Amino acid sequence: MIKGNDVEYAAKCIKEGGLVAFPTETVYGLGADAFNARAVARIFAEKQRPEFDPLIVHISSVRQIEELFRQPVDEKVYRLAEAFWPGPLTIVYKRSDSVPDIVTSGLSTVAVRMPSHPLAAKLIELSGKPIVAPSANRFGKLSPTQASHVEKQLDGIDYLLDGGSTEFGVESTVVMITQNGVRILRPGAVTAEELSTHVDVLDSETDYDDRDLPSPGMLKSHYAPRKPLYIINKPSELNYDEGDGVIIVSEEERGLYENAIVRSLSKTGDIQEVAVNLFAVLHQMEDDDDVSDIYIEAVKEKGIGKAVMDRIKKAAYSYKK
Ligand code: TXA
Ligand code: MG
Repeated sequence: MIKGNDVEYAAKCIKEGGLVAFPTETVYGLGADAFNARAVARIFAEKQRPEFDPLIVHISSVRQIEELFRQPVDEKVYRLAEAFWPGPLTIVYKRSDSVPDIVTSGLSTVAVRMPSHPLAAKLIELSGKPIVAPSANRFGKLSPTQASHVEKQLDGIDYLLDGGSTEFGVESTVVMITQNGVRILRPGAVTAEELSTHVDVLDSETDYDDRDLPSPGMLKSHYAPRKPLYIINKPSELNYDEGDGVIIVSEEERGLYENAIVRSLSKTGDIQEVAVNLFAVLHQMEDDDDVSDIYIEAVKEKGIGKAVMDRIKKAAYSYKK
């Protein structure tokens, strides 16, 4: 795989219908020209992503929503764009007829966001088109927050734009615009509290049935490491004997697990730092031959902690004891 920081070459690949993995402020994306249905189809094949799971379209200027969203565009879209773009907020709204069906999985809505990462913004601008990009991992697996995480999971990419580690570490917040306000479809880097200073945030149930999903990508199992991952809700409940497991806990609780290999996601307990390190540490643990199982302490579901806990629950879902 060709890797580097040549954004002009990356844009040339996109224009020619190629696939480019690139950094955003949340996670790395696997990008293609949103209006080239053949290139978009390659994304689904490369990720082994089911075609019922629609993609996010990335733009570099607010004006680009005119060709993506159906006119007239709800005023709340502009209010959110003004407040949070460029940045980690994805807006789902009625689509225009020019958006290819493969992008939206045939839905009547399309998801759009304007990333703040300078390399992502430059890539979209130089390509001259909106870029569709799911996270650059195999479907259902750990999200990539570094270029090496992309390399280890995907190989049929034309160029990997390396921008180091990402800033937030968890994906964008996905909101759907409704008549009365917005509904959070996926908690993410922008918190419900932040959103609610600009629009009404409607109550969203978190426990959806997999057969009846408001967002097709909201499966209960997702972001899964290759090794069993278990959640510790109360440290005292874990009866930990010596073994090959690793325990990911807060710095203060380290002392509770004397005989274990312990990792922490933050020195200070700062939840932003926990979010940044979550996928990176899970990647290290799944690659470490000395580790058989991973245990991770639950975090408080406040602010970005809600997104962190959403990822942890889904990552652990298929390993439930
Ligand atoms: O931070 C992010 O959002 C990253 C970076 C690369 O931008 N992208 C990302 O894409 O997380 P992906 O494909 O891994 O997740 C997109 C989510 C999925 O859950 C999908 O179902 C949902 O957005 N989605 C996309 N279009 C939708 C639509 N029209 N209606 C409802 N949900 C939609
Ligand atoms: Mg993803």
